[in-house]
Amino acid sequence: MIIKPARRLEGTVNLPGDKSISHRAAMLASIAKGSSRISNFAASEDCSSTLRCLEGLGVEIRRDGTSIAVIGRGKNGLLAPRAPLDCGNSGTTMRLLSGILAGQPCESILIGDESLSRRPMKRIIAPLTEMGAAVEATDGHAPLTISGRSPLKPLNFELPVASAQLKSCVLLAGLYANGETAVIETEPTRDHTERMLRAFGVDVAIRDGDERRRIMISGSSVLTATDLQVPSDVSSAAFFLVASACLAGSRIEMPRVGLNPTRTGVIDVLRSFGASIETADERISGGEPIGTLIVSGDGRLGARLNKVSGGIIANLIDEVPILAVFGTQVEGGIEIRDAGELRVKESDRIAAVAENLRRMGAEVQEFEDGLKVERSRLKGASIDSFGDHRIAMAFAVAGLFADGETEIRGAECAAVSFPGFFDVLSSVTNG
Ligand code: S3P
Repeated sequence: MIIKPARRLEGTVNLPGDKSISHRAAMLASIAKGSSRISNFAASEDCSSTLRCLEGLGVEIRRDGTSIAVIGRGKNGLLAPRAPLDCGNSGTTMRLLSGILAGQPCESILIGDESLSRRPMKRIIAPLTEMGAAVEATDGHAPLTISGRSPLKPLNFELPVASAQLKSCVLLAGLYANGETAVIETEPTRDHTERMLRAFGVDVAIRDGDERRRIMISGSSVLTATDLQVPSDVSSAAFFLVASACLAGSRIEMPRVGLNPTRTGVIDVLRSFGASIETADERISGGEPIGTLIVSGDGRLGARLNKVSGGIIANLIDEVPILAVFGTQVEGGIEIRDAGELRVKESDRIAAVAENLRRMGAEVQEFEDGLKVERSRLKGASIDSFGDHRIAMAFAVAGLFADGETEIRGAECAAVSFPGFFDVLSSVTNG
């Protein structure tokens, strides 16, 4: 994909449905009683992986444009899979589904692509094993062979890493335990699972302490089908927020975007640098806050504090690549720390961002847990996506800011979260 420099962005962008919320909606609908209709379901390859796996467990799913109907099989109605379940590139599919499969009295094999097969799975194997499932892996990596057990033992589990996928895995397994399971988190991570469980009629108790949150779920919970609309994906919005904020004269409007505070760290950071981002038409939909985002590019950007670190990192974890690109355009640059988890995402995102920014002529310092990016004049370069959707899209935006043309190699991986991204971007770009 070739990206040309742009002067400004203008128009309305209808983003795909939120990937995290879509995974959860489809999984919970599959184990609910009755049929659920889910509209604005993410058109992403990752969410297609989830649907394919659920079909492999005997769930009937009818697709109708961006809506799906899921014919729930009830909590204990999934069928033993006859073939390995292919999670593709999707960590959320593998980790969340493992929680459900741990409670099925059968054997399932979960496989993934090369990237997913490199990602750490010990973090889910440990609690699921404690709950009584048997999980085999190769040195803590997929393929995973899960021999489920019914019922599982309840667990009191403090998250060793701020991961919503791990939290969700244990909560979903908790649906199959003979008692109450609790997950304790010290850094709040995205709470879509908790909200979605409630939307399906499950009683999720949340107790906030001084520095920790305790989330409790009962193994006797029953899920009831529901209809819901998935908000548009704020992680996809981030690319347009940064591009528009940095290009003076831009104005982009994005309707029905999910504004869950555990996901909007990127908006807080951009605003702290003086970016003009307004919200309109805010409301609650399917238990999630949503609204229209309006971003304008006006004036110079800079912050009193250029360092992004600590608890906010979990709330912008997928936006670090685009925030690093943002750093090249702002007074004083940006420093992002406490983000070591980025090393085990779809690619080593710290290394991928540092390498690609340097190719574009930016000054970058790399740390084990983050990066420091100086304000830099970017020049067009040949960029490697490393097969990682967020790297491909972040550097497409960098290309808009650069002198000369930028080539994104392996750009097709953008479809993992945002099919059509490059067409949408070019439709609102003025050269
Ligand atoms: C996700 C949680 C995050 C995020 C991923 C989606 C989810 O991962 O990076 O893209 O849907 O729960 P971790 O929970 O492992 O940090």
